[in-house]
Amino acid sequence: FCRLTGTMSEPEKKHLPLFQYKGFNLITGIHNAEELDKLYDTEIYDSDIFIVTYPKSGTIWMQQIMSLIETKGVLNATFNMNTADRIPWVEADKTIQKFASLSPPRIHVCHLPWNLTPKELRQKKGKIIYVSRNPKDVLVSFYHFHKFSNIFETPKDFNTFLEKFLNGNVFCSSWFNHIKGWYTHKDDFNILFLSYEEMIQDLRSSVKKMCTFLDRKLSDEEIDNVVEHSQFHTMKNNSFANYRQVCPEIFDYDKGSFMRKGIVGDWKKHLTVEQNEKFDEVFQEKMQDVPIKFIWRN
Ligand code: A3P
Repeated sequence: FCRLTGTMSEPEKKHLPLFQYKGFNLITGIHNAEELDKLYDTEIYDSDIFIVTYPKSGTIWMQQIMSLIETKGVLNATFNMNTADRIPWVEADKTIQKFASLSPPRIHVCHLPWNLTPKELRQKKGKIIYVSRNPKDVLVSFYHFHKFSNIFETPKDFNTFLEKFLNGNVFCSSWFNHIKGWYTHKDDFNILFLSYEEMIQDLRSSVKKMCTFLDRKLSDEEIDNVVEHSQFHTMKNNSFANYRQVCPEIFDYDKGSFMRKGIVGDWKKHLTVEQNEKFDEVFQEKMQDVPIKFIWRN
């Protein structure tokens, strides 16, 4: 991302405006409509793996876990590379340009909705792991991220951001549409659903589920190592795993960090009773026809 800001003048550096690609909010300068059209038509191999998330649902965490599964828990195997270089964003302009020429296994993360991902995925080619998180915690994490990241405009206050989030006027549009799309079309894809909350509850089981789904055979000790190196405190202290290497033009480290709290239920400290009621109302309205049992609603 630093290459984007390197040539920008000071006022432009402040944030990169959103633009709509087929109704989905992406970031000018990072995403490119023509390249995304090419991605849609690109050939998919059975060995391709995509981790799909709505922002702030634990993407960086999955990037770390996925890298470690590939190295069988050995941290220093390829770990002198940043997270985004080990498991890149497939929809980023420059990645799409390289994607077709990469040798397998091609492993990427992605924030795209189901209908904008490569169409061959719908023939059950490749594998997808979709990670969801309680949207109230996503909202809080996203709010703090907007203050910390210079890419985005700093929200006026939490309530303003809440309105934008509920209306889908944010990067990646509506959380509700994202998750609804992926769940309602799940039978078209070769897909495993995981949640941030189940990973917090029992990371080892989630890693084992991933290994089974991806057909990766790791010993108990190797799985222990994957878990150890992907704990919140371990990643927070590993600059190759926590985006600390990303230039300060993108992230203002005086205002926060990518690895913020890493907990379940932080929303309770942020939403007022009225805001929470409003959120529940919108959730009910948007999700009533979606038969998903979320772990955080138990
Ligand atoms: P918080 O802001 O609530 O702390 P993403 O990578 O999708 O942007 O998600 C970032 C969120 O995942 C942040 O949430 C971050 O702290 C959390 N996270 C990252 N690594 C984690 C880990 N190992 N364990 C728990 N949470 C983690």
